[in-house]
Amino acid sequence: MSGKITFTMIKPDAVEDGHVGAILEKISEAGFKIKALKLTQLTVADAEKFYEIHSERPFYRELVEFMSSGPLVAAVLEKDNAVEEFRTIIGATNPSEAAEGTIRKLFARSIGENAIHGSDSDENALIEARFHFSGREIF
Ligand code: RTP
Ligand code: MG
Repeated sequence: MSGKITFTMIKPDAVEDGHVGAILEKISEAGFKIKALKLTQLTVADAEKFYEIHSERPFYRELVEFMSSGPLVAAVLEKDNAVEEFRTIIGATNPSEAAEGTIRKLFARSIGENAIHGSDSDENALIEARFHFSGREIF
């Protein structure tokens, strides 16, 4: 499975702004197959754990509060070279720097509330998928 899987979250801003359908369409058009999908909400403790790697960064508290503030859509996606190709279609962290046509350029509110998450390595994709889904929820 290594190299073929990435994990994503359509973040609370994009869910609240009604962009779930449009974002899933972009993901599908880009050739990603959905292996797992659900609407869910992180507790503050969940978000602290998920973003532990950023715990020393100045935006950590803001990030944890935002990511636990409302429902999000979690998904596991499959495609060759999934991690890199997905980060290409979501665009730069800061939507003002994201390429035209990318998900963040189209749908993000700001650098913090930036519509979507994409795993940054094959190893983290598997860790993040298992954080959100049990084995029987991944197809
Ligand atoms: P992600 O993990 O969500 O896919 O985003 P990323 O790799 O592009 O960015 P990363 O450096 O991992 O940062 C994680 C998330 O933290 C928020 N952030 N806010 N206010 C700020 O300066 C700032 N910088 C980062 C964003 O929600 C970012 O996606
Ligand atoms: Mg990241």
